[in-house]
Amino acid sequence: MKFVAINGSPKGRASNTQIMVNAFLTGASEAGADISTVFLSEKEINSCKGCFSCWYKSPGKCVIRDDMTGVLSLLAGANLIILASPLYFNNISGTLKVFIDRLFVTGSPPPPGDAKAEYGQKAAAEPVVPKIMMISNCGFPDRSQFQVVSLWMEKVAALLKTSLAAEIYAVRGKLLSDPTDEVRPAVVNYLKLLGNSGKEMAMNMKLSETTEELLQRDYV
Ligand SMILES: Cc1cc2nc3c(=O)[nH]c(=O)nc-3n(C[C@H](O)[C@H](O)[C@H](O)COP(=O)(O)O)c2cc1C
Repeated sequence: MKFVAINGSPKGRASNTQIMVNAFLTGASEAGADISTVFLSEKEINSCKGCFSCWYKSPGKCVIRDDMTGVLSLLAGANLIILASPLYFNNISGTLKVFIDRLFVTGSPPPPGDAKAEYGQKAAAEPVVPKIMMISNCGFPDRSQFQVVSLWMEKVAALLKTSLAAEIYAVRGKLLSDPTDEVRPAVVNYLKLLGNSGKEMAMNMKLSETTEELLQRDYV
């Protein structure tokens, strides 16, 4: 199993997002997965220009010369892309959104004359983008903050012709990197749960019902 995490926090390696990603990937690695993390904060990835050249002029190739080419190479052969982001205005970070927009290059145009065909439909039998999952944390204490991201990620997966394999959302993200003495045991337990989630994904490419139920609970 090859798992690649895309960390979309502008805080990169020092982010609360990374604490979650790291715990998850450590568990996945213990279960045999080949793991790596891309820090978008360390990459130059520019906005999609919307020119459609990657569909019509130079199929499969983007006109923008930046770090996206290297990241796409890293994704080759991956079984799971872990999209990870802090919650910004009830959505993913702009950094991660720019990256997702650039995945447009993995799609292809609808057949000529097929007005009902969807954007990004691939003629290839195998989807270009492997399964995806979402990891996010927010500042506020209520899980309803993630409603938009959860709905939207399902739509992103559908547009990419893949499926959303799992979602992990943590409230009060600052406590992950800076726990009070009172909450430290709960944070330690939560990170173990994330490690277990990584293990389950590496072994079964899905979370058990028990783990899903535990992840729905607030860790503090
Ligand atoms: C621009 C911006 C917008 C934010 N919007 C929200 C929000 O809508 N809801 C929320 O609960 N927290 C919000 N936050 C708080 C972050 O989600 C929180 O600080 C998170 O722990 C940052 O994660 P990171 O360390 O991985 O970057 C926002 C923070 C920033 C900087």
